[in-house]
Amino acid sequence: MASASSTAPGQVVTHGVAPLRAGQGISFVLRRLHSLSGIVPVGAFLFEHILVSNSTAITGPDAYARQVSFLANLPLVFFLELFGIWLPIAFHALYGFYIWYRGDGNTIQYPWSGNWMYTAQRWTGGIAFAYILWHTWTMRFTGIDLHAHPELSFGKVQAEVFRAPFLLFYVVGLIAASWHFAYGIWLFSAKWGIVTGEKAQKRFLIVCLAFFVVLSGAGLASLYSFRSRPMQDGAASGRITVTIADHPTAAERRPVR
Ligand code: HEM
Repeated sequence: MASASSTAPGQVVTHGVAPLRAGQGISFVLRRLHSLSGIVPVGAFLFEHILVSNSTAITGPDAYARQVSFLANLPLVFFLELFGIWLPIAFHALYGFYIWYRGDGNTIQYPWSGNWMYTAQRWTGGIAFAYILWHTWTMRFTGIDLHAHPELSFGKVQAEVFRAPFLLFYVVGLIAASWHFAYGIWLFSAKWGIVTGEKAQKRFLIVCLAFFVVLSGAGLASLYSFRSRPMQDGAASGRITVTIADHPTAAERRPVR
């Protein structure tokens, strides 16, 4: 089987993952940027969001509020979000849809389960995109402004996950994003020639699948924590009275201790 590093330009690849090659003009640069953005910053953000920030929910509402407060009080937080999260995700997603639409004919270059993995990478990206749009809208831009009221964050998440259809969307979105990222790490390593050779790539695939289990397992554990603890302030939708329009000014904000 051809490894990522053993193909020459113009050679037809029948197995393995095609390396990204120079000499394809702007689309080469965009493909490289798309590939890299999946790891940094988008993947790095997903890692932090699930394995660090949301895992604090397992400890309880106070720990979760402290973590949200820490993030909300980072200097220039809006610009960190804009340039570190929203714009990179928008670029990766929109260019990802373009790659999907173009159907860049590398179906047979996805190894072993070929077509299936190729399709899964696209659909999990699409599902993650729908989930991310909805999740950002409801958590960041509507209802309680959690940057101003981090102490209400646990309750705000509970208000969603106590409704079965929303909980289902959380679970599906979490699993789709985790799969997409974990298998994406494998693709990235093959395309950039970091892990080469059939044996090494097979072993690394197992590492990536283990990472998928850890990532989605940690996410499911935090969802369970939101569901299993008593309702916190702000959880019952009728009691959500603070809106983004009447949040305190930055000077009035107090980090949660
Ligand atoms: C949860 C956020 C996301 C993360 C962490 C992420 C991460 C990654 C990573 C690491 C890769 C592998 C890079 C490579 O192929 O070299 C990748 C590939 C890909 N992503 Fe994403 N991604 C995310 C969201 C999306 C979205 C919303 C779409 C939209 C459809 C998308 C579409 C794609 C496509 C089509 C590929 C495969 C490119 C190829 O086969 O050449 N991704 N992603």
